[in-house]
Amino acid sequence: MKDADVALVTGGTRGIGLGIAKSLVAKGMHVIVSGVRDAADAQGSLDELRSERKNSAQIIEYVQANVADADARQRMLDSIASTFGRLDVLVNNAGIAPKVRADILEASTESFDELISVNLKGPYFLTQSVANWMIRQQQSQQKNRYIINISSVSATVASINRGDYCIAKAGIGMATQLWATRLTEHGIAVYEVRPGIIETDMTKGVKGKYDSLIESGLLLEKRWGTPHDIGTVVAMLATGNLPYAPGAVLTLDGGMTLPRL
Ligand code: NAI
Repeated sequence: MKDADVALVTGGTRGIGLGIAKSLVAKGMHVIVSGVRDAADAQGSLDELRSERKNSAQIIEYVQANVADADARQRMLDSIASTFGRLDVLVNNAGIAPKVRADILEASTESFDELISVNLKGPYFLTQSVANWMIRQQQSQQKNRYIINISSVSATVASINRGDYCIAKAGIGMATQLWATRLTEHGIAVYEVRPGIIETDMTKGVKGKYDSLIESGLLLEKRWGTPHDIGTVVAMLATGNLPYAPGAVLTLDGGMTLPRL
């Protein structure tokens, strides 16, 4: 058990992040999930994750840390270092939707700043800190390590009522390329997963709209995606099952963005 991989999933207490955390727990990893809520509020998710353990020695922990806050990010990594002494897998999943979907002719700079801080700047600099730590770890223990970014089809599909979200996700696309280019020589594989329409709290408010779009043929697979779909693929990536593919982007969107006539 001492050798089980240690994985951090940001925003891992609900939705897609919880689906990813469950899949990594099922692979036998120690899993730390982070988020903005109080530890007491995260207890139910921790219980759920613990019930998925393969082995009672697997450690499942919650760390409260706003990914947009540099000090909180460092405290989170310090806490992981003091418990485990290492980190093998980082999944940059935490993210927000704009509070108000506003036409780009009207949308506010406040919304833009918040989206960029949480969805792009936070994960970019968390990756920088983790990358430096992983490079140091590689010097004492050479093994495969992974950084996986959860972006969105919004990296390439324009939605004019949430331009800030699209720009942040497009930025994650370039961040994936940059970090893959920088880290591959160190044995750190960097990948990106682009979900389409996934049933979570984030999409609750637009459920009716997407139900009818799915019904009218938006997707090739006529169903909402699930956190389990994304978790399955992230677990595949984080266990070395996509070799020889630095910076690979996997689009999990039921065929939404497949060009067709
Ligand atoms: P969600 O709203 O259900 O969960 C987001 C999680 O991130 C929550 O646990 C929340 O506490 C955490 N979080 C939010 N702000 C944070 C911050 N500042 N610091 C740390 N944690 C924070 O959202 P969902 O749907 O699970 O989305 C997860 C990721 O997947 C996001 O990056 C989102 O943009 C992306 N995504 C979601 C899609 C969907 O259809 N639901 C589609 C494509 C991408």
